[in-house]
Amino acid sequence: MSANKSTSPAPSIYLDHGATSWPKPQPVVDAVVRALTELGGNPGRGAYAMALAASRAIYDARRSCAQLLGVPDSRDLLFQPSCTHACNLMLKGILKPGDRVVVGSMEHNAIARPLARLASEDVEVVVVSADRTGFVDPGDIEREVCARPTRAVICQHASNLTGTVQPIEEMAEIAHERGALLLVDGAQGGGHLQVDIGAMNPDAYALSGHKGLLGPQGIGLLYLASGFDVQEQTEGGTGGGSSESLEMPPERPDRYEAGTANTSGIVGLGAAARFLAEEGDLQRKQEAALARRLHEGVLDIGGFRVLGPPPEVPRVPIVSIVHDSVEADRIAFALDRGYRVAVRAGLHCAPWAHETVGTLECGAVRLGIGWGNTTEQVDTVLAALAEIVS
Ligand code: ALA
Repeated sequence: MSANKSTSPAPSIYLDHGATSWPKPQPVVDAVVRALTELGGNPGRGAYAMALAASRAIYDARRSCAQLLGVPDSRDLLFQPSCTHACNLMLKGILKPGDRVVVGSMEHNAIARPLARLASEDVEVVVVSADRTGFVDPGDIEREVCARPTRAVICQHASNLTGTVQPIEEMAEIAHERGALLLVDGAQGGGHLQVDIGAMNPDAYALSGHKGLLGPQGIGLLYLASGFDVQEQTEGGTGGGSSESLEMPPERPDRYEAGTANTSGIVGLGAAARFLAEEGDLQRKQEAALARRLHEGVLDIGGFRVLGPPPEVPRVPIVSIVHDSVEADRIAFALDRGYRVAVRAGLHCAPWAHETVGTLECGAVRLGIGWGNTTEQVDTVLAALAEIVS
């Protein structure tokens, strides 16, 4: 009989939470399994018990997410297939030819690419440079907004490259004082930061469900401020309303959720939101402590630059590093093959951000801390890095 050899590709240490969280808390796994085994009816499309139970579970999940994120009316929180889809709806549903937008230079391609499309359709895109730590000065945004009539300020909450956190509340005030909207890409914010949308007051805020929010992949969220008219980008069946009409129903969330829902993803995300409502504060403290330990430890090795703000400045728990002589890809490859440590190297779908911090040519190795990481893991990774560059 041959030896029982595991073929699982799972790493020993997972440090790619900036891309997606793994593993998931058990309540999230249990909720997904329950959705797949017990809630298999099409939500909103039938009056039999299992379809009604699926609808009810989605309703509960939306309420749980709204509660976690400080959204007063859960109907303003829309389920989308991803944060990228949410960003596309937010930008393309709002901006029209002739509009002018002001955007920071740290944005991910989920914003940069839709904006490039919109720029080709006569939307003026003004990019404001962040500093070398990835911080976009609200004063610089204000100057641009004051210079010419502006439809929207677009701002990420936290950088997927440097972890830098932007002051969303202040950006909202600046935009609103001049009659502009504030549209936020919160992909890296949810879960890693205590996101209180009601307090920050953006007009739209897009989230990823599977990163810091700890839900499954394939689900994102878009908050749209109440009463704010945004053009839907997808037409189709919604289950509710009058099927005979060729218009989308005007009510939220139906207007923006055409097609069969991702029930297991939504139900898993709802469970994650309830988990974070209990554990989030402690989790954020642990993540901050681990990120700081990792950051300082990398600097102690020597030869490394850590992108973004210094260790004492609060950030989401991303530590991106560049070595003087060993290439980013080689470090990531050595971590994976030699130590079974999962990280992401390269440009992280964020060429604007890399250009801003001066790493467009060389890329960086991103170590993304999150749920499940420990002090021992951080110390093991530091020892591995020291060996790789020695
Ligand atoms: N946007 C994700 C990342 O930063 C996938 O890696």
